[in-house]
Amino acid sequence: MTESTVATAQPSAVIVLAAGAGTRMKSKTPKILHRIGGRSMIGHALAAAAGLAPRELVAVVRHQRDLVAGHIASLAEELGTSLHVADQDEVPGTGRAVQCGLEALQSAGLPVEGTVVVTYGDVPLLTTELLRELVSTHEAEGNAVTVLTALLEDPTGYGRILRDEDGSVAGIVEHKDATEAERAVNEVNSGIYAFDGAVLVQALEKVTTDNAQGEMYLTDVLSLARAAGGRVAAVSTRDQWQVEGANDRVQLAALGAEMNRRTVEAHMRAGTTVQDPATTWIDATVTLEPDTTILPNTHLQGATHVAEDAVVGPDTTLVDTTVGSGATVTRTQATGAVIGAGAAVGPFTYLRPGTVLGEQGKIGAFYETKNAVIGRGSKLSHLGYAGDAEIGEYTNIGCGNITANYDGVAKHRTVIGDHVRTSSNTVFIAPVTVGDGAYTGAGAVVRKDVPAGALALTVAPQRNTEGWTEQRRPGSPAAEAAARARSSAQAAETPGADA
Ligand code: UD1
Ligand code: CA
Repeated sequence: MTESTVATAQPSAVIVLAAGAGTRMKSKTPKILHRIGGRSMIGHALAAAAGLAPRELVAVVRHQRDLVAGHIASLAEELGTSLHVADQDEVPGTGRAVQCGLEALQSAGLPVEGTVVVTYGDVPLLTTELLRELVSTHEAEGNAVTVLTALLEDPTGYGRILRDEDGSVAGIVEHKDATEAERAVNEVNSGIYAFDGAVLVQALEKVTTDNAQGEMYLTDVLSLARAAGGRVAAVSTRDQWQVEGANDRVQLAALGAEMNRRTVEAHMRAGTTVQDPATTWIDATVTLEPDTTILPNTHLQGATHVAEDAVVGPDTTLVDTTVGSGATVTRTQATGAVIGAGAAVGPFTYLRPGTVLGEQGKIGAFYETKNAVIGRGSKLSHLGYAGDAEIGEYTNIGCGNITANYDGVAKHRTVIGDHVRTSSNTVFIAPVTVGDGAYTGAGAVVRKDVPAGALALTVAPQRNTEGWTEQRRPGSPAAEAAARARSSAQAAETPGADA
């Protein structure tokens, strides 16, 4: 890809085609809503298009219209851009789809002039950079149409680029309409173009459905534009991935793996150590600071952010989670959590939404948390559950502590102060408050508030029933062990016996 010399490359409109059915996905979900790299395919397409900062962004829909339009509206909000949704009617074909997109602009009183870009909703690896190169070339050369092409070893199914002896683009012929000689051409139409808007509108008026598929072909615009005296040219990319669409789930997985490879590589080039790129999966929406380390089998998803010097993994999945600088997160599943600087989480830890762990805090092995705000330096080291809880600073929660937050009807809060020490297996029956500097004894069931500095004990007297096992479990290994212990104790007590 060459660096463009024309700086502007801001088209008047980008039209993203998304009306097709995508039957080969074998799915109740529309094809373009299938996801890779943390976004739907249409999400990637619109993000790349929005990167051009076009005056108008249009998505053309038809198949499962309401579902697709609703998804597109939420994407527009996420991308912070306004967007037109245009409905294609029953006339089939890419030409009609573009025409419907243009009519939506015109009926909104927006003139179609200058450069109009057309892309597909199911080509997720296409980048803003390649689109910008297409637009820059188109405008620098003063073309009527510039088509993005690729050379494929197996061009079967694609429209073929027809060139004159002098190499100029004469037109595109669809595979189904092509002769044997034309099918031998391996330069294919990606379906991505920059058009002069006025030429596009005029040419589409002349496009018919008189072809092998009975569709209005957008590709016919090229020969029509040339016949009208316009210059038609191509930008050829060697990066086939950027023009590849996903028609079935096999292609979807291949595109997802390649997208991930590119994302992970970009993070490594920006200063992240990734020990095993092949088992590291990072969504396009994730941000990583330099000098982060990602260990094998780690999935970073959604709005996850990892700050410098943090180490994440192995075997960790973080969704919409923020990891502070220098924190370590090992064998953890976290969603909607905030992990403070220098904190330690894991191994085998489950952080659910609303977990906020303060700086230098710790949530250790086999802990689950939800809606739990934990202060600086506090530790929940092993085996427990903290839900709907607020824990102060430098508090140590003992092994096996549980917040009983749910009475079967409503959730209740547990509030624990600073510098508290709770012993093993304390149960907090919420709502309950434990004051600063308080202690609890092992097995305490805390039903009443504990004042600051108090020791809370739940004292149930212990009763030992002597000889119970031999009487009630005769013949069992436990009874035999008890009998041996009893006779050796008796032997030790018998006067005159050998030591
Ligand atoms: C089209 C091109 C072909 C090119 C290929 C690249 C035409 C006539 N052919 O093939 O030259 O090599 O793309 O993939 O343009 N769509 C609509 N409305 C429709 C039909 C399609 O919105 O009525 C959308 C689809 O959702 C999809 C895109 O247009 O995003 C391409 O449709 P598809 O049927 O996959 O392409 P072909 O027509 O086979
Ligand atoms: Ca296709």
